[in-house]
Amino acid sequence: MCGIVGFIGQKQAAPILLDGLSRLEYRGYDSAGIAVITPQGTIDLRKSEGRLKVLSDLVHGGADLNGCIGIGHTRWATHGVPNSINSHPHMSEGGKFAVIHNGIVENYVEIKEFLIRQGVHFQSETDTEVIAQLLEFYYNECHDFFETVGRVLRRITGAYALGILCADCPDRMIAVRKDTPLLLGFGEGENYIASDVTALIPYTRDVVYMDDGEMAVLTREGIQVYDPLQQPIEKEHHHIDWDVSAAEKGGYPHFMLKEIFEQPEALRRAISPRLKNGRVVFEDMKLTAEQIRAFTRIFIVACGSSYHVGMLGKYTLERMLRRNVEVQLASEFRYSDPIIDDRTLVIFISQSGETLDTMEALKEAKKRGAYVLSIVNVVGSSIARGSDDVLYTWAGPEIAVATTKAYSTQLAVIDMLALAFGEALGTVDEAEYAAVVSELQKLPEKMETVLAHHEDIQKFAAQHFNHNSIFFIGRNLDYALGLEGSLKLKEISYIHSEAYASGELKHGTISLIEEGTLVIALGTYSKLFEKAMSNVVEVKARGADVLALTTESRREEMLKTVPTVLAIPDTLDMLLPSLGVVPLQLFAYYVALQRGCDIDKPRNLAKSVTVE
Ligand code: F6R
Repeated sequence: MCGIVGFIGQKQAAPILLDGLSRLEYRGYDSAGIAVITPQGTIDLRKSEGRLKVLSDLVHGGADLNGCIGIGHTRWATHGVPNSINSHPHMSEGGKFAVIHNGIVENYVEIKEFLIRQGVHFQSETDTEVIAQLLEFYYNECHDFFETVGRVLRRITGAYALGILCADCPDRMIAVRKDTPLLLGFGEGENYIASDVTALIPYTRDVVYMDDGEMAVLTREGIQVYDPLQQPIEKEHHHIDWDVSAAEKGGYPHFMLKEIFEQPEALRRAISPRLKNGRVVFEDMKLTAEQIRAFTRIFIVACGSSYHVGMLGKYTLERMLRRNVEVQLASEFRYSDPIIDDRTLVIFISQSGETLDTMEALKEAKKRGAYVLSIVNVVGSSIARGSDDVLYTWAGPEIAVATTKAYSTQLAVIDMLALAFGEALGTVDEAEYAAVVSELQKLPEKMETVLAHHEDIQKFAAQHFNHNSIFFIGRNLDYALGLEGSLKLKEISYIHSEAYASGELKHGTISLIEEGTLVIALGTYSKLFEKAMSNVVEVKARGADVLALTTESRREEMLKTVPTVLAIPDTLDMLLPSLGVVPLQLFAYYVALQRGCDIDKPRNLAKSVTVE
């Protein structure tokens, strides 16, 4: 996620902004920028690609900028490649406004076209620049900073935390929040904004968390917050007593836990801008319906957890498209002499976009003439650059080695892709299409209810962290989900674990089940629930200790056989893995915590695997 810092006071703003941004570096970013209003009433803007140090050196630690009010930003690219033009702050053409933004403006294309028709010239590829240009456009009509911001907010849709400077108003800064975190810091004769409290800890511990739709006007003397109807309101102040290292993880003990809890927000970012009037719209996809219809073969290729997403994607795509979809491990695909021609689509899935096996498989696919579409989190990464089409997952930076929010967003993107392809091929009926769209919209909220039960999983993990070996069993979608649960557990807790398609147990593996073996039975998939139950009975009969995962509507049924049942909210079968993965991530996390493992950096593993 991008980082936001803003300052207004008596001191020079630039060094404070740079220091605040440096405290947000852990969140990951690819470029940075600051802007201050000078005593002459102009906005001085400096930006650079790469590390904050590059920006800091460029402006001599801030000494080059003269001004006591300013905003700063570290950017994690979403719209447009990471470079200094696309980095924030963005300025309006006439130089009146500078803005920093976390989030996504969903209707930016339409606004950009409108402004271009009015003669406005854009510099960047970003959605954020439309805010800066729109501010100046409205300001030229009303000449009132507060009123201008209100008009802009009524015009844009999406998620945003904003810090706004107006060159004509050097005594004020405006901050706005909708669906993206922003907080206000109160000092003596100086005040602050930040996306994360970490940035402010050396300066103030007196903060107010903004709520959705609120706007704040900051002056040197104080901060006034306004409700969504722009009426002044009083907000509760919070005192922060964290130490800096805890705060860097947003108060969570590990990045992995933080990222698990960030999943609903990450899903909102991945899904909501792509659902328009009940249809999936990939504004970022070049593939046409005609091209989709012309493909005779579809592959999905990836590694590790991304491969598990591919397995789920295969089930969904095949069901919706009635086409054969082959899913392969990138490290195998490269050497398998794949049957590929120019009527083949290969979908690559990668969080980092730098995984060497995946990148090499991509080169092989291209060499053989395939059309390459990738689903990637890191903007501008090698896999993204090497693809004909890229769908970004917009999960924000993932720091823990074990992937969580990238997995969830990859899954959401592939589900939406199935709808888009199904529409192009005419293989998905309208009722199903509408039902999937409606359930996709509810997914973040349903995931929040799963997360709210984290203590149940923590208790279960506390009873079972001493096993030497743990099995995950399930069928079809639940089997692919089990593979992910098992991988999470082994990579961070170092417990040996296997995932089996339940039907395979009787072909050999069931001999491993003995008194006290822990089996995590996944029985979420409604079509195969009865069969999943019979496998549970089989392992129980051999003495296994079973934890079952099912849906709310089947909890009672499951409880008749298994005493320990975790239930996720009901949704369409194809979306159940998106909810079911959360308890499995949490189980792996809490088991590893009990065992004292280095959760964020498990032994022998790297976040981005750039070796073969
Ligand atoms: C597991 C995990 C790995 C990655 C794999 C592929 O938690 O993170 O299995 O999924 O190394 O990485 P990307 O998706 O970056 O290509």
